[in-house]
Amino acid sequence: MSKKIQLDAPNVGVLEKKYLNRAIDSNYVSSVGPFITEFENKFSAYLGVKRAVAIQSGTAALYMSLYELGIGKGDEVIVPALTFVATVNPIIYAGAKPVFVDVDLATWNIDTKKIAQVITNKTKAIIPVHLYGNPCNMVEIMAIAKKYDLKVIEDATESLGARYKSQHTGTFGDFGCFSFNGNKIITTGGGGAIVGRNTKRLQHIKFLINQAKDESKSRGCYHSEMGFNYRMTNIEAALGLAQMEKLNKFLDKKRLYNSIYRKKLRNITSIHFQEEYENAHSAYWLSCIIFNRKINIPTLQSTLKAKGIPTRRIFIPLVEFPPYKKYKRTECRNSYSIYERGLCLPSSTLNSEDDIQYVCMTIRALTE
Ligand SMILES: Cc1ncc(COP(=O)(O)O)c(C=O)c1O
Repeated sequence: MSKKIQLDAPNVGVLEKKYLNRAIDSNYVSSVGPFITEFENKFSAYLGVKRAVAIQSGTAALYMSLYELGIGKGDEVIVPALTFVATVNPIIYAGAKPVFVDVDLATWNIDTKKIAQVITNKTKAIIPVHLYGNPCNMVEIMAIAKKYDLKVIEDATESLGARYKSQHTGTFGDFGCFSFNGNKIITTGGGGAIVGRNTKRLQHIKFLINQAKDESKSRGCYHSEMGFNYRMTNIEAALGLAQMEKLNKFLDKKRLYNSIYRKKLRNITSIHFQEEYENAHSAYWLSCIIFNRKINIPTLQSTLKAKGIPTRRIFIPLVEFPPYKKYKRTECRNSYSIYERGLCLPSSTLNSEDDIQYVCMTIRALTE
């Protein structure tokens, strides 16, 4: 067992130092520099898309997607009730209203059967979230979007490397948003990326997030539009480039650890896992379990903590919080049920196989 088991700590090392030193030696430490384009190119090539725009965070990626699509005041955007707040805040920043839909008990992702019932003439978009790395049913979501003429912005912040029917999550919708926060599959310290179908729109976002700065005019910097400062820095991109070289290794480890958890905890009848749709392959950002009997999750967490095992509760359904309560229109029983009975297990790639075996052994001893 390594010294300390990690829940979702980043995994950075010698290669990251090398690229960071290069960025520092070049003096390109801020929003200009070659690593930014290199990172964007490497990222888009990995996903098999034409263009990716590096941005300051996953939250900024979601906000700029809404902004670019002209979604704002009076509009409604459909989101799952079980997600992190950062899926929903950009909708409110844009002046639009989130409309919560409950999740499916098996996959923990937005229940596609419940989407149509909340669609009104104000609905403009769906933001499906590939929760904990697990792909949504994108075929059904895209079909609903087509039928009702809605835009789709995928929240793929937790699912880099996941695929649905062999296609990368984030590449189905009008836009796909990724996060490189420290706890994500790869990190740039803090950062994100947007990919999308329409290269012109992506180019426009790239322009907007750099203060809408047009330097082609002879009289100096010209701003034809109101811009934003949501740039990724060369330092962050240097870190990201090194992480991209390790991405497949990280994904292999996440998959391996998830398979160990499944194998070792499977025959404990009370424990179940987040299930994948047919032809879906999760990135297993976090391996999570759910108990099908009443269990005191906080007590279990503190016992595990005392044994050196960090865990985290599933996201609290957003309709529970004061800023979002007023947007609740339908029941979100499954979201609550998963929150009440679920638990995120150590999933950092810093952990060793032995660490994961130890976690399994300890959980077995406590819950069998
Ligand atoms: C589901 C979800 N959406 C959005 C975000 C926002 O990403 P960031 O932290 O890069 O702004 C995160 C991660 O924090 C997330 O987990």
